[in-house]
Amino acid sequence: MTRGASEAAAFVREKAGLQPDIALVLGSGLGPLADAVDGTAIPFAEIPCFPVATAPSHAGRLILGTLFGRSVAVMQGRVHMYEGYSPQEVVFPVRVLAALGTKTLVLTNAAGGMHPNDRVGDLVAIEDHLSLAVASGLDPLRGPNDEGEGPRFVSMNRAYDPDLIALAQSLGGLRRGTYAHVVGPSFEPPALIRLLKLAGCDLVGMSTVPEVIAARHLGMRVLAISAVTNIAVDSVGSPHVTSAEEVWDSVKIIQPKLLALMRDLIPALPKVPT
Ligand code: HPA
Repeated sequence: MTRGASEAAAFVREKAGLQPDIALVLGSGLGPLADAVDGTAIPFAEIPCFPVATAPSHAGRLILGTLFGRSVAVMQGRVHMYEGYSPQEVVFPVRVLAALGTKTLVLTNAAGGMHPNDRVGDLVAIEDHLSLAVASGLDPLRGPNDEGEGPRFVSMNRAYDPDLIALAQSLGGLRRGTYAHVVGPSFEPPALIRLLKLAGCDLVGMSTVPEVIAARHLGMRVLAISAVTNIAVDSVGSPHVTSAEEVWDSVKIIQPKLLALMRDLIPALPKVPT
C-alpha cells in the first residue's frame, strides 16, 4: 500500500469507530452538505501524512458518520495540483478512503460550462474526461506500482460507472458530459476553451480527474457530478471576466440542488459487499 495510507486509515478508524461504505468528496463551496452528516469530523491536519487543504472555502475535514441512512466518509474539501501538490499527493486521500473500506466514490466539483445547453446552476454527470496534464506525464499512477493496491495499467473507459450515471440521471434529470481537467490556478484563456470545445469537452475544472484515476486503480466505483458555476469564455471579444467570486456566488445557489440530489442518491447507491 502507498506509504502512510494504512497508518492514516488506522488513525481515522480509531477516532471514528465506524465502517463507511460510501466515500464523498465535496468540491469548492459544496462542503455544506457535510453538515448533514451525523458523525465525527477530523481536520486533515490531524491525519498522518494527509495533505492540508489551502484553497478558499475548502474546510479540510474528513467526516465519518451517517448520511441519509448510509455509512459515509466525507471529504469536506480536497487538495488540488494548483496548491503545489503533486498528482500523487492529491490522490493520497482517495487511497485512505479505499483503505477505510469504501467501495463507491462520489465526487463533486464546481466547473465552467462549455456546452451550448449549459446554464449556471446546472448539475452534470461526468461520463468521460480529458486532461492534457495527465496525458503529458502528470498521471497520479506514475512511478512504482503496488500490485496489492491495483494493476499497473488501468482502463479509463467506463471509469465513470454507467449504472451510477443512469441512477443519478433518473433521480436528478442531469445531463452527462465530458470534463476537461486543467491544473490552474489561472483560469483558461479563451484559446484553450476553444481547443477543449473542439475536442468535445463540455465542462472545465481544476480537480476530480486525478482522484478518479486513483479510485479506478483501487477498484472503486465512481460517480462524479459537476456543478456549473460559470460559462467558460471562448472569445477575447467577450466582455465577461471569469472570477472566483462568480464561482462562489453560483455555488451558493447550487448547494440546495445538490443536497436534494444527494438525499435521493445516497440511499439508492448499490450496497457493495465489503
Ligand atoms: N475553469 C476552471 N475551473 C473552474 C471553473 C472554470 O471556468 N469554474 C469553476 N471551476
